[in-house]
Amino acid sequence: MLRAVAIGTGAYLPEKIMTNHDFSKNLETSHEWIIERTGIVQRHIAAEGENTSDLATKAGLEAVKNANVAPETIDLVILATTTPDDTMPSTATKVQHRLGITKGAAFDINAACSGFVYAMNIANGLIASGQVKRALVIGAETYSRILNWEDRGTCILFGDGAAAIILEAQEESGTNADRGILFSRIHSDGQYTDLLKTTGGISSTMTAGVLTMVGKEIFRHASSKMPASVEEGLQELRLNKDEIDWLVPHQANMRILTSVAQKLKLAEEKVITTVAMHANTSAASIPLALHQASQDGRIKKGDLIACPALGAGLTWGCFLLRW
Ligand code: UT7
Repeated sequence: MLRAVAIGTGAYLPEKIMTNHDFSKNLETSHEWIIERTGIVQRHIAAEGENTSDLATKAGLEAVKNANVAPETIDLVILATTTPDDTMPSTATKVQHRLGITKGAAFDINAACSGFVYAMNIANGLIASGQVKRALVIGAETYSRILNWEDRGTCILFGDGAAAIILEAQEESGTNADRGILFSRIHSDGQYTDLLKTTGGISSTMTAGVLTMVGKEIFRHASSKMPASVEEGLQELRLNKDEIDWLVPHQANMRILTSVAQKLKLAEEKVITTVAMHANTSAASIPLALHQASQDGRIKKGDLIACPALGAGLTWGCFLLRW
């Protein structure tokens, strides 16, 4: 059977770093509060004129280099983002062009912080059905552009960044020992749209709006739906929790990551966390963590990785991938 196997990753973080101390100059907040309630130490912020497509292109180029493939052999580009360069065309088509790819398809997907899990689900489906041979899946965001910098409850949480993964169709045996995506499922429930949203948009206000969030409620949903979506995958594959080598969840808040690991009874050492240094980079957070942990040698070929996420919508889901 055809499996979507990861053959390379890349990432890019903007040069400018903003620390927690930078916030306390203008807001009633402190490094101590932010660390204690979120685990965040710093975040990267895109420079003026540096757009989501710039971040995504750099991450994509590195993934192409690390996978050692020619860009023109890629026949699908999916860019998960809530912060596209423009209303149209899709930012993915700009990235496709800058990478020198002229065939196949490129499009954006908006599922907020679950965007990468959604994009991987679509890429997996297209690869498994034989329509696509090589997919470049990117998560790239410039949330700094949609933050209310006077709202201490939200502006301290997010950062900018991008990361990418190349998936390749490979013939595998159809068992849990296969490399590639073994399970992928996405969910949404629109009754919760008001919990996390922007105050405007193209059709409603002709502006992008700024982000608002009912933090406590999102926290509650994330702490229950993320572990549940990992369990869903384990059940379907008839795998035990202890067969998971790495939990690489969406990075929103260190307390959420700890709670997800506890609910799954997974040792803290098995959780890859980047939230301290990147903050919440929305659709980019899972691929950034995958890239970091594979580059530093923690994630190795053959490891089983669980990647759950939850975001605005609400949207949530998980994929289980053997590296
Ligand atoms: O990617 C998916 C979306 N994002 C998430 O998953 C994030 C989910 N939510 C969270 O991470 C947490 O709810 C927050 C970090 C946003 C907030 O933590 P919390 O423990 O839920 O705090 P809270 O909202 O209950 O606020 C407690 C207090 C409040 O003061 P009062 O009303 O008790 O006087 C807030 O006004 O902390 C205050 N507060 C702050 N104080 C200092 C809120 N933000 C700040 C701040 N600095 N930055």
